[in-house]
Amino acid sequence: MFEEAQYFAPISTRDDGSVLVELSADHPGVADPTYRERRNAIAALAIGYVPGDPIPVAEYTAQEHDVWALVSRELAIKHQKYAPVEYLNAVQRLGLPKDHIPQLEEVSNLLAPLTGFRYLPAAGLVPLRDFYGVLADGYFYSTQYIRHHSVPFYTPEPDVIHEVIGHANALASDRYAALYRLAGQAARRVKSDEALEFISKVFWFTLEFGVIAERDELKAYGAGILSSYGEIEEFRGMDIRPLDLAAMGTTQYDITKYQDVLFRAESLDHLEDVVGDFWAHCDDDSIARLSSSK
Ligand SMILES: [Fe+2]
Repeated sequence: MFEEAQYFAPISTRDDGSVLVELSADHPGVADPTYRERRNAIAALAIGYVPGDPIPVAEYTAQEHDVWALVSRELAIKHQKYAPVEYLNAVQRLGLPKDHIPQLEEVSNLLAPLTGFRYLPAAGLVPLRDFYGVLADGYFYSTQYIRHHSVPFYTPEPDVIHEVIGHANALASDRYAALYRLAGQAARRVKSDEALEFISKVFWFTLEFGVIAERDELKAYGAGILSSYGEIEEFRGMDIRPLDLAAMGTTQYDITKYQDVLFRAESLDHLEDVVGDFWAHCDDDSIARLSSSK
């Protein structure tokens, strides 16, 4: 996943062909050999995945299913307060399991009849052009591993809780799903890496970390906020700026901390008019003009 990739654990293939996920020294699961073995096995599933086949089944422990159950229950409570109506309706529509981690195939089977989106397995980093490009075809690359059970409300990497609770619920909305597709079409249209990066930043500040006015309150529709037990309590206190394409496309952000600059849409119509229209029509030239206007 795009710049989030900077905090994906690196993956290497050993001489014997086996896959190694290199967790950092401060990763909560680094000293747990059983967890690390499972991470290696889950990464190998995605590396060996053949497009068109069913998504391989990831093995989870009872403890990991309990992490999903706990975090999804607690996030659902917070969503009632902090998520916009469009997202809450999509949650109802999708009906994710609450008691176990769904396999990505199960997520696809819930999602496809609603908006046509299906999941693809990712071991970790997916190159920007692939990650965004496939959105145009209704595919979403997703990791399958889950955070370490010792710290259920914290993950240093985007895990299946982020990918599914954050993104799949959003992708169950016709209107959000249309925005994801437009981002994919934009990524396919542009040629330069600079333009692609601009598009990815607009995605970051909207579909990952976007906030939106709803009646007199500020809500979050970005998957990064909606899947974070800590960040969802903090976003209203951040530096909230008006929706501005040139600013979003050129603002630097630090992925390892809570996002302290956020951009507010005044309504979903407003988001579609500004960001949807941008993704629908942008090209290398229009993005170069926007970039130089800042
Ligand atoms: Fe994400």
